[in-house]
Formats: sequence, C-alpha cells, structure tokens
Amino acid sequence: MTEKNIESLLHEDRSFEPPVEFASAARLGNREDYDAIRSKAAADPEAFWASIAEELHWFRKWDQVLDWSNPPFAKWFVGAKTNISHNCLDRNLDRGLGDKTAILWEGEPGDRREISYSELHASVCEFAGALLAKGIKAGDRIALYMPMVPELAIAMLACARIGATHSIVFGGFSADSLRDRINDAEAAMVITADGGWRRGKVLALKDIVDDAVVQCPSVKNVIVLKRCENEVAWDEERDTWWHDALVGVAPLQAAAELDAEHPLFILYTSGTTGKPKGVVHSTGGYMTQAYITTRWIFDLKDDDIYWCTADIGWVTGHSYIVYGPLMNGASVVMYEGAPDTPGKDRFWDIVERYGVTVLYTAPTAIRTFMKWGDELPASHDLSSLRLLGTVGEPINPEAWMWYRRVIGGDRCPIVDTWWQTETGAIMISPVPGAVTTKPGSATLPFPGIDAEVVDSDGEPVAANQGGLLVIRKPWPGMLRTIYGDPERFKEQYWARIPGMYFAGDGARRDEDGYFWIMGRIDDVMNVSGHRLGTMEVESALVGHEAVTEAAVVGRPDDVKGEAVAAFVTLGPGYEGDDELAAALRAHVGKEIGAFAKPDDIRFTDALPKTRSGKIMRRLLRDIAAGRDEVGDTTTLEDYSVLASLREDD
Ligand code: WTA
Repeated sequence: MTEKNIESLLHEDRSFEPPVEFASAARLGNREDYDAIRSKAAADPEAFWASIAEELHWFRKWDQVLDWSNPPFAKWFVGAKTNISHNCLDRNLDRGLGDKTAILWEGEPGDRREISYSELHASVCEFAGALLAKGIKAGDRIALYMPMVPELAIAMLACARIGATHSIVFGGFSADSLRDRINDAEAAMVITADGGWRRGKVLALKDIVDDAVVQCPSVKNVIVLKRCENEVAWDEERDTWWHDALVGVAPLQAAAELDAEHPLFILYTSGTTGKPKGVVHSTGGYMTQAYITTRWIFDLKDDDIYWCTADIGWVTGHSYIVYGPLMNGASVVMYEGAPDTPGKDRFWDIVERYGVTVLYTAPTAIRTFMKWGDELPASHDLSSLRLLGTVGEPINPEAWMWYRRVIGGDRCPIVDTWWQTETGAIMISPVPGAVTTKPGSATLPFPGIDAEVVDSDGEPVAANQGGLLVIRKPWPGMLRTIYGDPERFKEQYWARIPGMYFAGDGARRDEDGYFWIMGRIDDVMNVSGHRLGTMEVESALVGHEAVTEAAVVGRPDDVKGEAVAAFVTLGPGYEGDDELAAALRAHVGKEIGAFAKPDDIRFTDALPKTRSGKIMRRLLRDIAAGRDEVGDTTTLEDYSVLASLREDD
C-alpha cells in the first residue's frame, strides 16, 4: 500500500438478485424494508441493538444500553443480568423446543449422535454441576483442548452456565502453544479428551496436554473425555475422566445470573507481535449480535438443518456452531473429522444424508473442492441446500461462481461474511433475501454497524479507492480488551486512526456502497483461513539454535490463500541444506502447530533491510511470490542482498 491509500485492481461486473422464491419466504425479504431497518439503526444504533436484545432472556434488564464514556472500553447493557447458556437451552425449552434436535453429530469414523434440546440441557446442567464440584467459580478461566465432539459444546455451555470464562485452544496447536495460552489466562482447569479422529488416525490430545501442563502452575484439574480409547498417562491427583466427574454431582439447574459484561470467553489470536493476544468477549452484547446475525444472515427457520464446517477452536465455531445457532433453536450439524476421509466427497455425503439446508464454510475449503473436481459433489443429491455462506478470507470470484454453480445448483444465494475474532460476530454481509450479491464482495454492513473505508487521516475515500477498513462506532459483540493487557488493546486497535477501530484489513467500496475486502495489510497471514502472525513464525524460527535471523512473509497460494515463506540466515558452522530446512519446519510445528510450518524456507546470507534496520517485507513478499517486478528499492541498504536473494529464484 502507499501511505495514503491502496491501489485496488479487482473489477467484477456480475451480480445476482435474491431469487424470488427465496426472498418470498425469507425473514427479511425485500430491499426497501431492509434499508428502512438499516437507516433506522444508523440513526439510533443503541435503540436498534436494544430492540434485538429484547428478543432474548434477561434476568434483569439494563439501565443503559451503551456506556462509551471511557473509550475504547465499552460496556453494553449496563446493569443487566443474563446467561447465554440459559438463552441457548432453557429459553428453547420454555418455547416448546425440548424435543427438537439441537445437535446432529457425526464422528469421523462414522459414529453418530442426535441430541435434543432437552438432552443437551440436561448434559450441560450435569457438567456444570461437575465443574462446581471441582471448585470452579464464576470468573475462573478454563482451557478447552478438545476434538469436535458434542462434549466440547457441552463444556462451553457449562462454563457459561456458571460464569467460568472458557478459552478454547484449537486442537492443531502444539503443546508449547497450549502451555502459553493456559499460562497467559492462568487457567485453573483444562478439559480435553484422550484423543480425536483426524484422517483415520488418533490425534493424542491428552498426551499434548500432559506435556503442556507440567509447565502450568495454575492448573489444578484436568478433565478427560474418553473418545478414542487410546492409552493415556494418568496423574491421579490432577486427572479425572469426564464420566467419573459426573458421578454423584447435583446438576446445576438454574443458570448463574451474570452481569451483561461478565467475560464469556477468551480466544487467542495472532497479531503483529510474536505473542498471541487473548481477545476477551463479554456476555450480553456478544449474545445479542451473535443471535441476530445468525437469524438474519442465515435466514434460519424452524425446519432448517444448518451446518457450519469450521472448528470450534476458531471464533467461527464459537459464534456460528454453538452460540448463535443454539440461541435460535436451530438443528446444527457437527462433524468431527477431515473433509477427505474416508473419501473426498465426505462433505457432500453429509449434506445429502442430513438434508443440510444452510452450509457455511471457508474459501480455502471451496478452492480445495474445486481442485478435487465437479464429479464428487455431482454424485450426491445436494438439492436440500438453499443458502451458502463463506468466511475467513477474501473469496476470489472464480471460487464464488463455482460454489454457486456446483454446490448451490445456481439456485442458492451466497452470503460472504466479513468479521474477525475481535468483532465477535458478522459485521459485513448480505442479508440473502434482501441484498443483491456480487461475486467477491461482502456487500453491506449489518444494521447498526458503522463500517467505512478511510485514508490514513480517517477520512472516507472516494468510491473504488482502496483504504483502511474501520468501524467508527462501538458494536455489542466487540472485544472488550486483550486479556491482562488493556494498553495493548488500545494500541493495537484504536491508535492507528484515533477514535476508530482498525484491525488490519484493506478494502474498497464500489459505487453501490458495497465493500470489497482486500485482505490484511499488516503482518498477519491468512493460511487456509487460519490467522497466523509472521512474527510468531519468526520467533519460533529464531528459537532454533541454527538460526540467527528470520523473516517470514505470506505468498499467494491457489488453495491455501496464503502460504508461509521464510527467509533465514544461519549462525556460523550451519549448512543451509534440505535436512536443516526439514528440522526448521519440524521446529515451527513443535513451537506453534503443524499448520504453521513454512511452505518454503530460503537460506540467505543477509536479509534486506532499510537504513533504519527494518526488514523490507514488501520486497520479500515479491520475491516469495516470484514476481519479476520487485517494488520500490530506494530505501534498500544493501542492493547486493537483493541481488543474491533473487539469484536463488
Ligand atoms: C479475514 C474469522 C475477506 C480478514 C471470522 C479478517 C475475510 C480475518 C472475511 C479475521 C471475508 C474474514 N472476506 N476477508 N468474508 N472474513 N476475513 O480472526 O482478513 O480468524 O481480518 O476471524 O480474516 O480472521 P479471524
């Protein structure tokens, strides 16, 4: 990007109106009504969000909708008492949905479970009782490191029921990453499983937890779900089987009446420093936004079978597998394993067998399916689908069109939803019955969300000019802080453009006001929809004895979106050969997790730096991408470094 704005090159002329049949049955089925809601919400966002909150259950109503007297620290629904577990469960039982299926679960080996709302409620009450029996109190942090099994949702809802703050760590993270997250949050307990199934193999989660918690003084208890029956080591003092933890405990029937600002969860995410940040979400505001975005954007009706293919270890799973859909009383499909096990048509097999109506997945998955060919989806009956969604990274128009044609049979609208771990819920997305879509555009901000594209002075840029994507007013699902580091919260998100939230994306708006997200402009990569900081990978690399300096950049990849490219200088006596490259990749796998392993490692004598000593990442990005025209090099300190790096091409 240039200082002032970003060049935007993508042009896309196709557009798709909401299909008449879809719109006529939709919750929000025409543009005029939707625009009326949007302008009313823009004029008085607090009144809008309060009217949505009214649809949910509160033990005590708020005295004030928003307290923004100490920005950027927002308080929503001040003085109110509520419980999101009550809203996901008890409220649905009260509405007569007890017998409705809440979770349609399928394990990778093909085992299945169907759990009704009353069964889910009973399991959550029981497990909440077990947590209390272990001495857990409201405000305690609990780390969850689990496979995609119903007990993960049960554990989340049980934490929420008593007011324990959950911190879910994706099962692909290594023991070191898990340890750091547990220690940062000072978690009192870890909930895990013996293992989980992934591509026909057992991922031995308990072993990884054992490695992590020896260095976690705060952890008093580890609860272990029996899933794969693999052998595990056991610490009698510390470890309890999930089923044993339930014995003789009194189920917690009444959910705790929690302050609306009570911290519901912490979720660690990558930023521009080496250390992941614990994004803190609270209860009442998050609940309100997760509820209504699910309802309107996925147009959920009573008979929908809804499937979000994310892992609950990421924010998408929090908001759109568990909290949002369950608050709406939906029937949610949950799948444990990989999309290519036993065959590459596993997803389409699931869609067909369960009659999935709404499917929400990621561009990286869509591009993978494109590569696998049209025959696999074509061999299944996908006619139950009526709406498709995507999230996690910009979707290229080609993938969008393929998704529409091959998966959606040219009949299903696509909702391209832009949001972040920090925003808690969807911020920019079409509402499918009302908004005409364009391939590659997330279209319009949700009602009550004040998104804009601005220059570095915070001034809106003209149509089709690239700029920084910002949010100008607080929104209910916004992160409240970074755990234990309020200064970093201010610095990271609110300092670049004073008074506005900026979390790293570039964008443009077209002449219709549609948003086109151009991707991260900071040092955060998006690898297969997983956020990964270049600094995180760099600090892992320099932690290896052979490495003196490392610079990591993303390079375009057809399937993963971005691949990880590392430039490495070595200490004396080390040889930059294939063996060392393999060792470095393994080292990053151990430090962070397998998904962070660099795709390319290039050994070099020196890294290109500016006169002030900053690594020239733009240049490295060009080299990694194999681009011939290398960008502006006038600030390059040592041209010979560039020359020698390019010789390696
Ligand atoms: C990117 C995932 C383009 C973006 C919910 C953002 C997107 C980051 C989209 C957040 C989209 C997410 N179009 N880019 N529809 N959705 N992104 O925190 O760069 O894992 O900043 O949250 O993903 O990733 P995170």
